[in-house]
Amino acid sequence: MDLITGQRVVITGATSGIGRLTALELVRRGGNVTIVCRNLEKGKATAAEIESTVAGTSVDVLVADLSGLEQVRRVAAEICARYPVVDVLVNNAGVQDLRPRLTPDGFDHMVASNYLGPFLLTNLILDRTRAAAAARIVVVASEAHRIAGRLDPETFEHLGSYSRATAMWAYGRTKLLDLLFALELARRLEGTRVTANALCPGLVATNLVGGKPMLGPVDRMLSLTPMLRTPEQGARMSVRLATDPSLDGVTGRFFTSTPGMRFLPPAGPTRDASLQRRIWERTAQLVGLETAAG
Ligand SMILES: NC(=O)c1ccc[n+]([C@@H]2O[C@H](COP(=O)([O-])OP(=O)(O)OC[C@H]3O[C@@H](n4cnc5c(N)ncnc54)[C@H](OP(=O)(O)O)[C@@H]3O)[C@@H](O)[C@H]2O)c1
Repeated sequence: MDLITGQRVVITGATSGIGRLTALELVRRGGNVTIVCRNLEKGKATAAEIESTVAGTSVDVLVADLSGLEQVRRVAAEICARYPVVDVLVNNAGVQDLRPRLTPDGFDHMVASNYLGPFLLTNLILDRTRAAAAARIVVVASEAHRIAGRLDPETFEHLGSYSRATAMWAYGRTKLLDLLFALELARRLEGTRVTANALCPGLVATNLVGGKPMLGPVDRMLSLTPMLRTPEQGARMSVRLATDPSLDGVTGRFFTSTPGMRFLPPAGPTRDASLQRRIWERTAQLVGLETAAG
């Protein structure tokens, strides 16, 4: 087991699914874990469950709905005030909305939760990762990025109208944005001791789609095959990217857990550094970031 004894870990979306098991495993490996959650009661319950499972540990809980930029700014300030160093940041929180809705900031809720909020949070606590001996930023993306198609760097935040039938496409767009963010972040962090990598956890039985447990007939069928994973299995790649010493210094890569997918060529936008830079710059404007990494 690769230990991260005494390292400060900040993880979003640890109140359910993959994040919950990732947080538990990182505590087992000696990490001092901080959960950023949108529901304080769920956060406290998760922390208590982890603390009772791994004796002698203490899990911090901070609250922010990542779809709200003010909340992200507030929690980033709390993180910076509490922790001089952040060794591991796992951007895990995510949703798959089944119909569009706008946040009070005027953004699509899924884009704000999955991409804009994590982008802002990461940038606002970047100095704390730079203060670490060697820090790792882990972005939980998805193979769904492959179905997103082309991205216009001027309009990517508008998903337009989507329905239950096309929600996967819209979700895939947000996950492509996550992946491009990780790649550009890695580029901007070159020459520092901070790495950034993205991953797909595979198809995992969680509450991701519409906030409800996977229970449909397709899921039931898949659960009889290795195609559908438990949250514990889904957490493995995040844990690996956060802890595996053989990945020291490895940055700007996408690690997939979905069987067979590593043999596919990378999606076009993931090879386009100029597109990634333009999307980064526009995102920084959208979230009101004066100084971004790099
Ligand atoms: N499941 C899969 O097959 C699969 C495949 C590829 C990638 N992923 C990615 O894996 C990550 C974890 O998802 P999961 O499958 O474990 O789903 P999940 O069980 O629904 O967990 C999602 C977590 O994110 C939190 N969250 C959602 N929106 C948030 C917001 N606006 N602000 C703060 N927290 C928020 C949820 O909080 P609550 O507990 O309050 O709801 C929950 O803790 C996501 O990024 C997802 O895109 C999942």
